[in-house]
Amino acid sequence: MFSQRIASLRPSPIREILSVIDRPGMVSFAGGLPASETLPHLTHSIAPTSLQYGPSEGDPELRTLVSEQLRALGLDAPTERVMILSGSQQGIDLVAKLFVDPGTPVAVESPTYLAALQVFRLYGADFTDLNWADSPGAPLAYVVPTFANPTGRCAIDGERDSLARACLDSGTTLFEDDPYRELAYGPCHRAPVTARMGGGSWVYQGSFSKTFAPGLRLGFLTASEDLFPRLVMLKQTVDLHSSTLSQQLVRNALTDPSWASRLDELASFYRTRRDSFDDALRRHLGGLAEWETPAGGLFFWLRLTKPIDTRTLLATAIDRGVAFMPGEEFFPDRPQLGTMRLNFSHADADATERGLRTLAQLLATCGL
Ligand SMILES: Cc1ncc(COP(=O)(O)O)c(C=O)c1O
Repeated sequence: MFSQRIASLRPSPIREILSVIDRPGMVSFAGGLPASETLPHLTHSIAPTSLQYGPSEGDPELRTLVSEQLRALGLDAPTERVMILSGSQQGIDLVAKLFVDPGTPVAVESPTYLAALQVFRLYGADFTDLNWADSPGAPLAYVVPTFANPTGRCAIDGERDSLARACLDSGTTLFEDDPYRELAYGPCHRAPVTARMGGGSWVYQGSFSKTFAPGLRLGFLTASEDLFPRLVMLKQTVDLHSSTLSQQLVRNALTDPSWASRLDELASFYRTRRDSFDDALRRHLGGLAEWETPAGGLFFWLRLTKPIDTRTLLATAIDRGVAFMPGEEFFPDRPQLGTMRLNFSHADADATERGLRTLAQLLATCGL
């Protein structure tokens, strides 16, 4: 009755968790949710043109604004090769559709963004390990170099150069996913890897979800000349174009003189949250896990001192009022046991204290 690819479709663990986080008293370290306090209060009047159909590539003015920002990062991204997406998740689907048939090798980091793995799997990808220095050995490589999800890691300059060269030399298309780049809390190399290729095939995408409002579902993409027209055709088959209303709201925000200070305030707000989370982690899970303090993004990645399968802890944790993401879910295959991803942006200081204390008690019952 259904297509063959549906056989590989599994429910997203994160969606299942998100469905319980609104329970009263629940502390959630699970999703990558921006802090509610940082979401904008919108009072704009809505122009009738913002309720009309629009071009598939997106609002021309918004594309120009995005193009200016991307060119400032060194990307070859003229306005004609910028497309507005219905969330950067859509970009992953479009790129997967363009490249992946059953059995197509796709090089990914291990661990990497869970919902990208789900999309690539749906189209039948065969995952190979991405090694930053060597040829990816696959027609497509997917990477989150800046404040990765789930690890928070920011690739260093040399790694970025090596990967760009390896992709260029081996004819691999590099797909760089960069939704966290504005959330930087300390110095690190953030220049896009795709900007360093100086040719070849590549896709670079970003998102307005973490800097503005995830509910508007807007992201953007630019790509090399050989890929861009095909990606536009694929987008047309999916949703014709992204919400004109969302695009108006984002365009207004980007042209508002306060945009740059909004980004600074956001980074400063999350830097404080990261630091107090780090402090609470040390107090509650100090002897139970190891981690590196992330220089940006929204996540801490924990390695427990014992390799217990954290998927088996989740149901009890939720019963006790705390949700987290089991790290095992982020591995394309051969999950590393004893890992968890904790989001630090959403819970306030009191909730963080309560949630980490509960997690520590739960881990203690597992003999840690
Ligand atoms: C690495 C990565 N890519 C893409 C997305 C999708 O973001 P959105 O569709 O909200 O732009 C996320 C969301 O958390 C992410 O972490």
